[in-house]
Amino acid sequence: HGMLSTFGIVSVLLLLPAPYAFLYLCFLFSRTTVRQTLRRFVLKCMRTNYSILDRFLELVETQPHKPFVYFKDETFTYREADVLSNKVARAFLQAGCVKEGDTVALFLGNQPMFLWLWLGLVKIGCAGALLNSNIRSKSLLHCLNCSGATTLVAAEELLDAVKEVLPHLHEQQITVFILADRCEITGVESFIDKMNQASSEPIPKELRSHLTMQSPAAYIYTSGTTGLPKAALITHSRVWTMSLLLPSSGVNSKDVIYDTLPLYHSTGLLVFTGAIERGIPVVLRSKFSASQFWDDCRKYNVTVIQYIGEIMRYLCNTPQKLSDKNHKVRLAIGNGIRADVWRDFVRRFGEIQIREFYGATEGNFALLNYSSKMGLLLLNLQMFFPYAVIKYDIDKEEPLRDSSGFCMEVDKGEPGLLVTEITAKAPFIGYVRDLNQTEKKKLHNVFKKGDLYFNTGDLLRIDEDNFMYFHDRVGDTFRWKGENVATAEVADILALADCVKEANVYGVKVPGQEGRAGMAAVTLRDGLKFDSTAVFKHVEDFLPSYARPRFMRIQRSLDITGTFKLIKTKVVEQGFNPNDITDPLYFLNEKEKNYTPLTPDVFDSVISGDIKI
Ligand SMILES: *[C@@H]1O[C@H](CO)[C@@H](O)[C@H](O)[C@H]1NC(C)=O
Ligand SMILES: *[C@@H]1O[C@H](CO)[C@@H](O)[C@H](O)[C@H]1NC(C)=O
Ligand SMILES: *[C@@H]1O[C@H](CO)[C@@H](O)[C@H](O)[C@H]1NC(C)=O
Ligand SMILES: *[C@@H]1O[C@H](CO)[C@@H](O)[C@H](O)[C@H]1NC(C)=O
Ligand SMILES: *[C@@H]1O[C@H](CO)[C@@H](O)[C@H](O)[C@H]1NC(C)=O
Repeated sequence: HGMLSTFGIVSVLLLLPAPYAFLYLCFLFSRTTVRQTLRRFVLKCMRTNYSILDRFLELVETQPHKPFVYFKDETFTYREADVLSNKVARAFLQAGCVKEGDTVALFLGNQPMFLWLWLGLVKIGCAGALLNSNIRSKSLLHCLNCSGATTLVAAEELLDAVKEVLPHLHEQQITVFILADRCEITGVESFIDKMNQASSEPIPKELRSHLTMQSPAAYIYTSGTTGLPKAALITHSRVWTMSLLLPSSGVNSKDVIYDTLPLYHSTGLLVFTGAIERGIPVVLRSKFSASQFWDDCRKYNVTVIQYIGEIMRYLCNTPQKLSDKNHKVRLAIGNGIRADVWRDFVRRFGEIQIREFYGATEGNFALLNYSSKMGLLLLNLQMFFPYAVIKYDIDKEEPLRDSSGFCMEVDKGEPGLLVTEITAKAPFIGYVRDLNQTEKKKLHNVFKKGDLYFNTGDLLRIDEDNFMYFHDRVGDTFRWKGENVATAEVADILALADCVKEANVYGVKVPGQEGRAGMAAVTLRDGLKFDSTAVFKHVEDFLPSYARPRFMRIQRSLDITGTFKLIKTKVVEQGFNPNDITDPLYFLNEKEKNYTPLTPDVFDSVISGDIKI
């Protein structure tokens, strides 16, 4: 699998265990001063167990009054963040439910408290399991279970979601806190009052005496390719490698960075830990808003923004304004931007440098573009991190193999599956408590007998100049509105609706939209009709908005393989065009709060964009 050009190119391994990633970083930076600084840094981390928390505490000493977090109209300095996280740590200790080495599940959206909770936990040698605040019922229990957490802390506005599973939490003897001053519900304790009463004295280092670079710092959930979310372990060394994305993208100590992505995803979290590494302020938003974006950048003097492809597209779709170029943003760091959006963005909002990176939370590989060509991803030092883009059989959902059973690389320009070799230097840690899922991400005998690769689940394309472009995700996950939707999870939930017997969930392309819109082919229980209002209500109650199927197709029976696996290829190809499909079709109608029949007229309006889905 040919050598790619390395001229002018740097790739950063964000996710390797500390020593290797650091050494590669050292190697990659050609400027010797940077290289030496990084090498010294690596050695310091390894020898002294120097964690992101130690870096934070240094900043509390050296720049106590510098702003650390801006949120709405509040500003928290480094000193204030330290005090608040000390109080969190002491509240946990005094409640007596948490000791060094434990995991505490955090169930809340973006707000400063998220950061104080996590820092507080690290101060007492604990890890946070960062639950997606959109998950409910079965998924919530599953995620809690696979983190091994014995304590759950939830936002006040998520009390209903907690109440729904409370009997199960009690059964498993999980201590439940709610972020409120008081709480009347038996078995749920308030946290804020305990925190307010706790002392703000610094937490002695003895309380985290076992913390090393290999200790868990967080569990981050990924939907991977099938089934329920899986927990990826983020060790302290991985926190460092994630955080080093900012310095390696050129962020400096005078910058101000804007974080609109969920902190429970690695992309959102790394902005915050990266800000600590740089000692700079983070502007935190509870939710991304295209209309507020540039106003926020102006208000807080933001110089660095973070994006995913959808964010850039939403920004480009807002009405033009005279003030479009009036801001101090100089750098954008993120992933998934399309080349046409990239051009629009720069034309409209001015000369903002774009650093595109690629990496899966659980992967053993990551890339960052460092060239001057309009393209997404650029490679690479293949001799150090072997990877290949191989031919993939979408029907069978597995790599195509030649007559001797080995995989084949795609031709230039053709999409294929990205696989990265698993070696001692680029290991794949796998998922917590889920050996089966871990095994599924591994590919054996790819180019020779006995070799082992990590299946990224991503289809990519490499052009003549060795630029990589993201193409699609394969298999059972699709992306919609910037979130991964695990089809099996949606199908499980649909099958709990009264009239639904079985469901086959997949994503369909809609012109003008990124990713795929969710669609479900369902069969009905004997003698029951499709109750469009009840199914809508069920879907609304149990699924986050992005995971709700936009289209529904009623079938007599579902297509299955010889091994009883649902066949998606055919239904995916047929899409949602009522002119081609004789089965009854419906679309999710948010206004009417039901599933409304999808007529040829409605179909035309969806295609033309008159009906927004
Ligand atoms: C780092 O952690 C390891 C394991 O707990 C310990 O043996 C070692 O003494 C620590 N080093 C320092 C400098 O604290
Ligand atoms: C939690 O996991 C254990 C095994 O690890 C299993 O026996 C138990 O049923 C699980 N509970 C839930 C609610 O998933
Ligand atoms: C942004 O910069 C302006 C001018 O330099 C300054 O007056 C203002 O206080 C700054 N705002 C913040 C939030 O730092
Ligand atoms: C990455 O590619 C974009 C698109 O051409 C370019 O604007 C940007 O400067 C590149 N990044 C670096 C570090 O050169
Ligand atoms: C793992 O897979 C095997 C075979 O497919 C199955 O029998 C077993 O129950 C699975 N284990 C778990 C924990 O899911």
